[in-house]
Amino acid sequence: MQRPDTPNQLTVLGIESSCDDTSAAVVRWRKETGGEILSNVVSGQTELHAAFGGVVPEIAARAHAEKLDLMVEAALRDARVTLKELDAIAVTAGPGLIGGVLSGVMCAKGLAAGAGLPLVGVNHLAGHALTPRLTDGLGFPYLMLLVSGGHCQFLIVESPDRFHRLGGTIDDAPGEAFDKTARLLGLEQPGGPEVEQAAVAGNSKRFPFPRPLLDRPGCDMSFSGLKTALLRARDACIKREQGLREQDRADLCASFQAAVADVLAEKSRRALAAYLALNPPVPMMAVAGGVAANNLIRARLEAVCTEQGTGFVAPPLALCTDNAGMIAWAGIERFRRGETDDLTLSARPRWPLDTRQAAMLGSGKKGAKA
Ligand code: KG4
Ligand code: ZN
Repeated sequence: MQRPDTPNQLTVLGIESSCDDTSAAVVRWRKETGGEILSNVVSGQTELHAAFGGVVPEIAARAHAEKLDLMVEAALRDARVTLKELDAIAVTAGPGLIGGVLSGVMCAKGLAAGAGLPLVGVNHLAGHALTPRLTDGLGFPYLMLLVSGGHCQFLIVESPDRFHRLGGTIDDAPGEAFDKTARLLGLEQPGGPEVEQAAVAGNSKRFPFPRPLLDRPGCDMSFSGLKTALLRARDACIKREQGLREQDRADLCASFQAAVADVLAEKSRRALAAYLALNPPVPMMAVAGGVAANNLIRARLEAVCTEQGTGFVAPPLALCTDNAGMIAWAGIERFRRGETDDLTLSARPRWPLDTRQAAMLGSGKKGAKA
């Protein structure tokens, strides 16, 4: 569904503010060479929320409102592009924490109206899901696993606006589980890298943590029960030793990480089977999200793909986590199909990618999951 008047080149500003990262980026697409990131600036809010043990929506929204114009200026400066040289402005219009999404949408509307540019509302999850087309030029259809602190779902990406959700978490996202585990064991936030580091010296077989929902068919997952099991095991260690020994902590981390990796690997195997049944011409699976940085998880997913004769793509981490480059790119994909929004574009706290199915139940601290 290409526009008849599609130009050979498009330059789009992207804006992202749906969770705890304020980001702006300029991405250029050329017919011959594909997408190129000219700039991608991200300002995180970890310190602002550190004292509260999670993202506080009101604090996040205010910080976005204060930072957005500075980030846009920086993105244009880094890209050596002026507003006049842009073809459109793309902005995350959901799903996410509504105050933050609103800040971004209002900023984008102001810029679009002021500069007389088209506005393109982007689904944040579509931004993640379409990133492998920007980084690796993947063709449709491909299988995507979104696995971060706020998201966890398997999608067959059929086109820029057609996604088939095969399953996802019914409660916590894996990144959330890593973060909670770190908190329970006295490690720093974000918990994923800390738990992974501590697990290096640990015995992953010492604690037989549950592998939730593996006994049920399908690709849905659950991670909230794992932290309860971990809490019990931790308390038993503390009781026995009058404190948490370094080795106990390492064994708890390794056993927890192994449980998450087992669940993701087995559910990926099932998702791949459903995807491969479509006979895709070039079978490919891609991951996005902060948890994709985990070496064990990444290796397990790659092994499943190799086993099934499927290519595996993990974009660079800076493009796997929340950033406006992916929003600009998803905006380009929409714009090339002739799709734009007007100034009535609204911010949506929930916005499932697969509109043919009921929304997922999970809705964690970082906002809606689908
Ligand atoms: O994609 P991301 O920045 O999105 C969200 O904000 O949701 O992902 C952040 C999440 C955090 O929960 C963090 O603990 C987790 O990704 N994470 C990891 C690792 N690095 C980051 N989880 C496991 N292992 C890692 N190495
Ligand atoms: Zn995200």
